[in-house]
Amino acid sequence: MSNRIIELRNITKSYGQVYALGGVDLHVDEAEVVGLVGDNGAGKSTLIKILAGAVPPTTGDILVRGKPVTGWNAAKSRQAGIETVFQDRALAVQQTITWNIFMGREIVGPLGFLRVRRQREEASRLMREIGFTSKVFGPNSIVGQLSGGERQGVAIARAIYNQADLIILDEPTTALSLTETAKVFHFVEQAKAAGRSILFIGHNIHHVYDISDRFVVLDRGRVATQIGKTELGSAEALIKFMEELAHPTEGGAHSGDAA
Ligand SMILES: Nc1ncnc2c1ncn2[C@@H]1O[C@H](COP(=O)(O)OP(=O)(O)OP(=O)(O)O)[C@@H](O)[C@H]1O
Ligand SMILES: [Mg+2]
Repeated sequence: MSNRIIELRNITKSYGQVYALGGVDLHVDEAEVVGLVGDNGAGKSTLIKILAGAVPPTTGDILVRGKPVTGWNAAKSRQAGIETVFQDRALAVQQTITWNIFMGREIVGPLGFLRVRRQREEASRLMREIGFTSKVFGPNSIVGQLSGGERQGVAIARAIYNQADLIILDEPTTALSLTETAKVFHFVEQAKAAGRSILFIGHNIHHVYDISDRFVVLDRGRVATQIGKTELGSAEALIKFMEELAHPTEGGAHSGDAA
């Protein structure tokens, strides 16, 4: 059994004449947090839409636990244990935390009745599992009353309930305050401690650096580098590398391009 949850090989995606992805290799293993970074338009969201099965790649191979799959789509992505959390869009704000966690996968008894109490207890357990410690909010609280960070927490709890091996978060903290961002990171840490892997996309390199074990830098549809945290050493090193990509200097990262 491979500990490689998912692997993309030489994935391209073109929209008409535009190549959003020009041949990308990417993999995520068990229990690791991978930070996916890159400038605006680098292809990050396109890549995760492909992982989520929301858009098909133009060419390339997808391997789940080491085995090539054909006809990749949203259902197969979920079967592979991948849950993608898109900011805000995913939650029904007028509904309760419990409702949002179980939406589409309700617990029902033998006669088809909703197991309301079981769901409430399970929601409560999940919220504890991800470190949601609010004394004010419980399973019956309306999601619309939660802060942005707490909403991300509900989305992560749902991904855990759906037994996700890999939870993908596309810019989960962009619209959040520092305290809220800290909450999301806490949830991510807890999900990782529970053995889940995370693919985290963000613009704030310091944030991404703090929570990730490994980094994939996308540049204009290609992987510019993949590097582990210890090898990288600091967030500043990552920022410097990305600046070099954006504004290449003599002898810098792009000096070979003219050849
Ligand atoms: N549906 C689409 N039709 C045409 N072009 C698209 C489409 N989706 C993305 N693109 C193009 O593909 C490229 C990559 O876009 P993508 O959204 O993946 O970038 P990103 O790295 O997520 O950027 P950002 O950091 O701004 O979110 C861009 O040039 C974008 O304009
Ligand atoms: Mg994006």
